[in-house]
Amino acid sequence: MDAKLIAAFRRARSLSVLTGAGVSAASGIPTFRDKQTGLWENFDAAELATPGAFRRDPALVWGWYEWRRMQVLRAEPNPAHRALAAMAERIPTFTLITQNVDDLHERAGSPNVIHLHGELARPYCEACRQPYVHPPGIPELPEGGAQLEPPRCQACGARVRPGVVWFGESLPELDWLAALEAVKTCEVFLSVGTSAFVQPAASLIDLANRVGAVTVQINPNPTDADRAVAFALRGPAGELLPQLVHEVWEGKGSALK
Ligand code: OAD
Repeated sequence: MDAKLIAAFRRARSLSVLTGAGVSAASGIPTFRDKQTGLWENFDAAELATPGAFRRDPALVWGWYEWRRMQVLRAEPNPAHRALAAMAERIPTFTLITQNVDDLHERAGSPNVIHLHGELARPYCEACRQPYVHPPGIPELPEGGAQLEPPRCQACGARVRPGVVWFGESLPELDWLAALEAVKTCEVFLSVGTSAFVQPAASLIDLANRVGAVTVQINPNPTDADRAVAFALRGPAGELLPQLVHEVWEGKGSALK
């Protein structure tokens, strides 16, 4: 890897990381926009991931998110998740911001993950916003899910909705503010496994550039952010992130740290 990149990581006292679906791809969780395998290549977002879709057909939407929750329950973190957890232990101020709705970062040992797009495992009541506690066990659902009536709120009896952010909805405010604050003050900004297509998450890359952070991207494919970052590393996160940790903290010259 580029010596300047390695030096920037060794020097950094603060690092902000933005992750996307590509980080969980090697765990068997589908991305959204990859050709053939992407969820939005195979399912219609307008029918599944908007407030209107849930109003029109709550059983279809709930069943689809339950299928995705089931996939995550069966998945395990991969070397990319683990490398990010290892970085957190080596940099004094480390902020992990994810667009992912799975909990694989947490299961790999990353603390205080900011979930910009919510979490599959945290549904809540449409009316009173009380969190809903899933019964234990893994639902058995076919590929793509099946019609399943959403449960009722344990507090007020209204309908429970998936705990994710849908198209047309705002991001959770405190999480977004925390992400902005972290990026404004970081020395290195790393974007991994995201197409950098969805706003406002993708705007964090521009913000990092504006505040003078060293910007880095890891992705096996070209993205909209290629030209925006100082270092665009081409390859899978499960290989490049462990290699980065190794070269920065375990490789030649790392004793300086
Ligand atoms: P996308 O599916 O848009 O992009 C995934 C990116 O991961 C692509 O650029 C791939 O090239 C890359 N990728 C694939 N395999 C990889 C690997 N092994 N290592 C590294 N990168 C890999 O997913 P996101 O950018 O996360 O929103 O999508 C952003 C948001 O759009 C999601 O959070 C979701 C979706 O609609 C909500 O659910 C609200």
